[in-house]
Amino acid sequence: MKTSILFSLLGSTTLSLLTLASASDVTDTIISNASADDIDLSALPNLDAALNEIAAVYENAGTTPTSSKRDIGPISRRQTPSPNNIVDVHTHVVPSWYQTLVPVTGQNPTPNWDLATHLSFMASEGISHSVIGFSAPGPNVYPGDKKQTLALARIMNEQVAAYCRTNPQQLSFYAVVPLPYVAEAINEANYALDTLGAVGIVLTSNVEGLYLGNAQFTSFFDAINKRQGRQILYIHPGTPYLKVGSTLYEANPTLYTTGTIEFYFETARTLMDLTLTQTIHNFTNIHYVIPHVGGAFTTSIDRILKSVPPLYDSSMQIYSTRFWWDSAGPTYFHQVVGLMGFTIPTSQYLFGTDYPYAPSFTQAGSLAAVKAATWFTDAEKTAIFSGNAKNLFGNKIKFY
Ligand SMILES: *[C@@H]1O[C@H](CO)[C@@H](O)[C@H](O)[C@H]1NC(C)=O
Ligand SMILES: *[C@@H]1O[C@H](CO)[C@@H](O)[C@H](O)[C@H]1NC(C)=O
Repeated sequence: MKTSILFSLLGSTTLSLLTLASASDVTDTIISNASADDIDLSALPNLDAALNEIAAVYENAGTTPTSSKRDIGPISRRQTPSPNNIVDVHTHVVPSWYQTLVPVTGQNPTPNWDLATHLSFMASEGISHSVIGFSAPGPNVYPGDKKQTLALARIMNEQVAAYCRTNPQQLSFYAVVPLPYVAEAINEANYALDTLGAVGIVLTSNVEGLYLGNAQFTSFFDAINKRQGRQILYIHPGTPYLKVGSTLYEANPTLYTTGTIEFYFETARTLMDLTLTQTIHNFTNIHYVIPHVGGAFTTSIDRILKSVPPLYDSSMQIYSTRFWWDSAGPTYFHQVVGLMGFTIPTSQYLFGTDYPYAPSFTQAGSLAAVKAATWFTDAEKTAIFSGNAKNLFGNKIKFY
């Protein structure tokens, strides 16, 4: 039926998708690609819902007002002051099957989301390109269950790939990996980067209670580092856990939701761990996207590193070259000066919205705060809105 639409949309992206002519073909390919990698998708209770939603993305491509074929230029020019070619490096998707599986994130309700509304949000903010990814908890919904974690990671990657393949000018994605299973996580990273076209990998600040510098994960960083070309890891904060026996307890001792403030400390904890274990030092091919201009990390850097003098300068050097700090959240009212206090150059700052987890009503204010920030020149702001992202991602993503 929609064969020709799929042809024209996907032809340049993926050769073998040229043969996908129907929803059942897409579904069959997803299942056979998974089983070729020893992933049993039937381990997922809601597999049918997920497959249907993925197939629908391909089927609807080109037939809705939100497709990449439509020109959204006039809308963005009318509603948004320049620059209107912003790159948003921190933005999430919540297909309905995932919202059903993860109804709560950081003790807040997981937000509603759909692709069409996302694309009109982009137009209304002057965003030309968004790097999408799943938020916490990523694929770690079934702690201790390897089969389900592997299957969930794969189906999540097929879902985000579908959004990007059908909107290649506007969207690209960070893939998830099924850590703590290291060999399988390496395999999934290779599939997502090489076959599905992911531009980077999203890791949650802790995996079932283990922070990312944990020795269990070193061989994952090593394998990513050995891949050809620059590798990008996006270190997204998640819920902190205490593991007692084999049970994970959400570790929030306050009365306030985990998403409100614990996520900031999660970023600080995992960056401390990646630094003190020298993971970031040893694997020099890896660049890091750090949300929320570092969360609580910049406040903690001196305390963490002044007591380890040999690591101070080398760490600051990495934070100033291979770390890229996104603006997601209300960070440019004041918080960004934490980065500036360490003279981390503005060439490392990126724009991010955290849509749809940061509510819509906050977005215009956050964007306005970046535009109004008195600390930056106009040229620096233009770079924060797009040039720096271009420097980070290079030809991994398509602009405009
Ligand atoms: C399945 O894998 C092939 C490569 O082996 C790839 O070209 C194709 O895009 C994959 N299918 C889907 C739906 O991701
Ligand atoms: C990094 O290398 C140093 C030696 O230079 C070593 O002590 C440390 O354990 C290594 N860390 C990792 C995570 O590979």
